[in-house]
Amino acid sequence: MKPEIASPDWNQLYETGETPWDKGLPTPVLAEVQQRHPQLFQGEVMVPGCGTGSDARWLAAQGCRATGVDIAPLAVDRARSLDAGQGVQYVLASLFDLPEELRGKFDLVWEHTCLCALPPELRKSYIQGVYAALKGGGLVAGVFFIDPEMDPGETGPPFGISPEELTGLWAEAGFRVQESWVPTTGYPGRVGRERVLIAAKAAKAA
Ligand SMILES: C[S@@+](CC[C@H](N)C(=O)[O-])C[C@H]1O[C@@H](n2cnc3c(N)ncnc32)[C@H](O)[C@@H]1O
Repeated sequence: MKPEIASPDWNQLYETGETPWDKGLPTPVLAEVQQRHPQLFQGEVMVPGCGTGSDARWLAAQGCRATGVDIAPLAVDRARSLDAGQGVQYVLASLFDLPEELRGKFDLVWEHTCLCALPPELRKSYIQGVYAALKGGGLVAGVFFIDPEMDPGETGPPFGISPEELTGLWAEAGFRVQESWVPTTGYPGRVGRERVLIAAKAAKAA
């Protein structure tokens, strides 16, 4: 169900080019995670809030069957036009209301700047969306914005989150947190402000 909480008009931001998050390159943290966990990126992988698809294309280039989901039609159009044979499937949809065919489909959800884009009141809905997308035993891995640089009095997005709250949110929702660390890589200006977390959805009881 779609929560009734005000969010930015994401499509409008893509239309006016107010997209400072879009670096045109995958986050360098993907390569760091892969180096640490060479078997992680495989199978069916969903990227919620994929934007113009840089991370989804990187995942597809590693051999994943990647699906990018975004609520902004312009982001999805651009992502499709940037596909250079990587074969990512892009779906115009909200994580809060995933189409039936995406539910329970994924081995892995890769998170990057979707959670921090949402008002904190929507965090539980975000995690429910990830839970719905994953198969039993599926994993979520992501790089989370802990400490975005803000001017005094400025609010998000991006909305920072403490490492304790981040871990607690996943644990409360039935995920087992496997690992969490501060990555040594990142876009310029983000190193030391982000955190990687990997967690598993409980497998279905036999
Ligand atoms: C800060 S941008 C990050 C985009 C991309 N991850 C990147 O790093 O370039 C947040 C993205 O989340 C999308 N988004 C916001 N709410 C969403 C929702 N409920 N379901 C799916 N996507 C959503 C926005 O349209 C936007 O593309």
